[in-house]
Parts: sequence; structure tokens; C-alpha cells
Amino acid sequence: MSNRPYHIDVMISAKSIAARIEDLAREIKKEYSDTDKLVVIGLLRGSFVFIADLVRELDMNVEVDFLEASSYDDGTESTREVKILKDLRGAIEGRDVLIVEDIVDTGHTLTAVTSLLKSRRPNKMKTIALLDKPSRREVDFKANWTGFEIPDAFVVGYGIDFAQANRNLPYIGSVVFEDE
Ligand code: IMP
Repeated sequence: MSNRPYHIDVMISAKSIAARIEDLAREIKKEYSDTDKLVVIGLLRGSFVFIADLVRELDMNVEVDFLEASSYDDGTESTREVKILKDLRGAIEGRDVLIVEDIVDTGHTLTAVTSLLKSRRPNKMKTIALLDKPSRREVDFKANWTGFEIPDAFVVGYGIDFAQANRNLPYIGSVVFEDE
């Protein structure tokens, strides 16, 4: 799959992403205005750029932790079983938590991750996803905040990969295969 020639069309510019993150950060700060120290949890690896920009817009006390759950291997096929490949370093019992994801696609990953983390009894737990592809949903899941709703396209950039490539693009682009 990754050997097929493709090009990338810009879907969401770096400037639009930055503007949207400022708005989202404002809403998040309001939601967590009583929180002493917010635990911001990034789902690896796709959220690493988003979480870096988001926490820098949150002028409040934050801790950052990461969790890695598998859903895609090396291509564009989703596997339904969600495995925890790397767990959090810190405990979240009684804490206020924000889970940061790159994309909600079928919904399996965030459904599994939120149910796992809920079992650890955080005080308050919310989710934010930069992108949402509602037309791809297989299980009912809606993040508390979404950056952008996008159509059913395979996207890359701003931390998101295609077979581990293109994470370093500063914008979100859609993969267009030349032979399609
Ligand atoms: P879900 O479990 O199907 O909701 O999948 C969520 C995960 O699938 C995301 O965190 C991404 O890692 C990956 N994913 C979904 N859509 C895309 C895409 O268009 N490009 C790259 N990765 C994607």
C-alpha cells in the first residue's frame, strides 16, 4: 500500500489549525477553571504535535503524560482490537484529565481508552480530537471538543502519518493516490 505513488493536497492550513487551537484552549480553560493541575494525556504517536501546541495555549497548571494504543499498523486498514502498547506514567485517580487524540475515525480507539481510564476513577475526564471523520464511525463516540470535522479521506501531517511518513508536515493534507 505504501509503495503506491501518491501526492498530498492541503486540506487544513497551519494558520487555520493555530487559530482553532486558540479557540479550543479558551473553552478548555473555562471548563477546567476550578482545576488545580490538569493532566493532559496525549495518545501516541499522532497527537504529539497537537498536544505540544495545545498545552502552550493553556496558561494554567498542566502535567503531560502519554499513552500509546494500537489501531493502525503500517497502512490504512483499521484493526478493531485496541491494545495498550505504552501505559501512563502517572496515576489519575481523583485527578482532572484531558485526553488528546489526533483523529476520531471508527471510534474504537477512544471508546477503549476512555473506558480503561475511567476505570482508574479520575475526578473529571474529557476528550479532545483535532479531527473527526463522523462518516467512518463504527461505534458511537463523540469527543467533547473537535477541531475540525472532515470527510472520509486519509489524512497526514501535523503529527499524523501514512506508514510513518509525513508526520512533520505543518498542515493537514489528504493523501491522493496517483492510480485512483
Ligand atoms: P479509530 O479507532 O478508528 O477512531 O482510529 C483512530 C486512530 O486511527 C487515529 O488515532 C489515527 O492514528 C488513525 N487514523 C484514523 N484515520 C486516519 C487518517 O486519515 N490518517 C492517519 N491515521 C488515521
